[in-house]
Amino acid sequence: MPLLDVEGFGTIDADDGTRLVNAVRATGADIGHRCGGQAKCTTCRVTFSEGEPGPMTRAEYDKLAQTNALGDYRLACQIRVDRPMTVTPLMLAEEMGWDNPGPEPAADVEPEAQWHEREALASEE
Ligand code: FES
Repeated sequence: MPLLDVEGFGTIDADDGTRLVNAVRATGADIGHRCGGQAKCTTCRVTFSEGEPGPMTRAEYDKLAQTNALGDYRLACQIRVDRPMTVTPLMLAEEMGWDNPGPEPAADVEPEAQWHEREALASEE
């Protein structure tokens, strides 16, 4: 089981393949997920200091490209914990003044994940 370290919240043993947004929530972090994990809101944004996966879902790439955020952060709802990771959530509900972080994300990545290497996605443009 890969170790997930969430800056400011601690470390958990995550089940291999757990959706990152849900694993971060399991540490007690009130990470945003305002669209319910659909790659639409970007409030689940995280930065990695260890373990950033190379492949991205099509939905993550499209959203980050559309908002000029490629290279700035990743979307935790579009990533599975499949290796040791250290992340910092950038939008916490309490800090943002939200009543709640958003609707419960499904257990696995939605919309149905189409994984691509970033270079392959970028060369399509
Ligand atoms: S983009 Fe909305 S929860 Fe990830």
